[in-house]
Formats: sequence, C-alpha cells, structure tokens
Amino acid sequence: MSVRPARLVVLISGNGSNLQAILDACAGGSLAASVAAVFSNKGEAYGLERAHRAGVPAVYFPKPKEEDRRAYDLRLAQAVQSYQPDWVVLAGWMRLLSSAFLEFFPGRVINLHPALPGEFPGTDAIERAFEAYRRGQLTRTGVMVHLVPDEGVDSGPVIAQAEVPIGPGDTLESLTARMHAVEHELLVAAIRKILSEPEILPRT
Ligand code: GAR
Repeated sequence: MSVRPARLVVLISGNGSNLQAILDACAGGSLAASVAAVFSNKGEAYGLERAHRAGVPAVYFPKPKEEDRRAYDLRLAQAVQSYQPDWVVLAGWMRLLSSAFLEFFPGRVINLHPALPGEFPGTDAIERAFEAYRRGQLTRTGVMVHLVPDEGVDSGPVIAQAEVPIGPGDTLESLTARMHAVEHELLVAAIRKILSEPEILPRT
C-alpha cells in the first residue's frame, strides 16, 4: 500500500529561504510531502516567486487595514483549508494568528522560530540574541520548530530544536547566515519527524 504524500500549506511573509528548503526536500524525495500552496500577507515577498517557480499556487493574501484581525484570520483559514492541508507550516510568517485561524487546524500548525524555547519571542530574535551575547549574557542562541496550539507568541510543544553557538569572531551577518543554514535543516527534519511519528505530538 503506498502512502499519499502529506499536503503542506506554507505561510510566509518574506524571502522564503525556509520555504525553498521545504520545496527542495519535497522535490528531492527526502520529504514525503508536497506543498499544496504558499500564502503570503506581503505582496513583495520573494517566497511567492519561489512558489511560482516550483509550480505551486502562490497566494497573496493581504489584510485590509479596515478588516478586523479575527475576520481576516477566518478568511485566511478558509482559503488555506481549500487546499486541504495535512499540516500548516509557518515559515517566516510574521503575523500572530488568532484562534479564529488556529481552531481550523487543531494540532496541525507548526512554526519555525530563530531562538531556543522561551527565548526572544517575536521579531528580530537573531539581532536580540546577538546583542545579549555582546552584553555577555549568553554564548549561544538557537532555532526551534514547535506546534502552535494557541495564541502564545513563538511558544508551544517543541518538535525539534538546535543550539547555535556565538563566538568572538561573529558579526550579526555571520550569525544570521549560520542561523538560516541551521533553520533550513531543522525545519525539514521537524516536518519529517511529525510525518513519521505523528503520535509523538500532543493533540490540542
Ligand atoms: C526565519 O529566520 C524565521 O525563523 C523567522 O523569519 C525568518 C524567515 O526567513 N521567523 C520568525 O522570526 C517568527 N517569529 P525566510 O523568509 O528566508 O524563510
């Protein structure tokens, strides 16, 4: 009996280098999945171009200023649902999702964040970790992939995490490049893990 590849919908807001890692892993056969659609809240997001080049529906889904946050999230959820995802992957999606979205996909939304659990939630996590290093407060940061059970910011049951050391030779640029390289590996590994062992995950 052959198993149908899992359907992923990936939400992005920018460059989409992590989306690219997923697309490459799917195309190369190292991930038993396919990207059913890519959504961006930003029209200029380069990730939309990456999706287009991969032959994947690329959906620009802006939030009108006058629209209520929950109304937008509900519309977004319905649009995402129309692609029948098994998993929704937030790969550089820079909007907080309310329960209006999350209730559509209980236990099925995962998020990538460039910090270790409990550290530097929100935007500019790499910059803030580097500043903390310069103040002598830490010598490592990291990357995590976690489930998004609720409206908590960059928090939830961890699927995979990796430490990234910071050293005296580092600049923000070198650290950022190393973090992205770790993210690209970890995100694909985390998706592989939830596909192969879904029972390890708590159901919300
Ligand atoms: C990544 O570093 C990701 O971890 C981060 O946005 C970047 C997107 O890069 N996400 C967050 O900070 C979420 N709080 P990409 O568009 O090149 O994949």
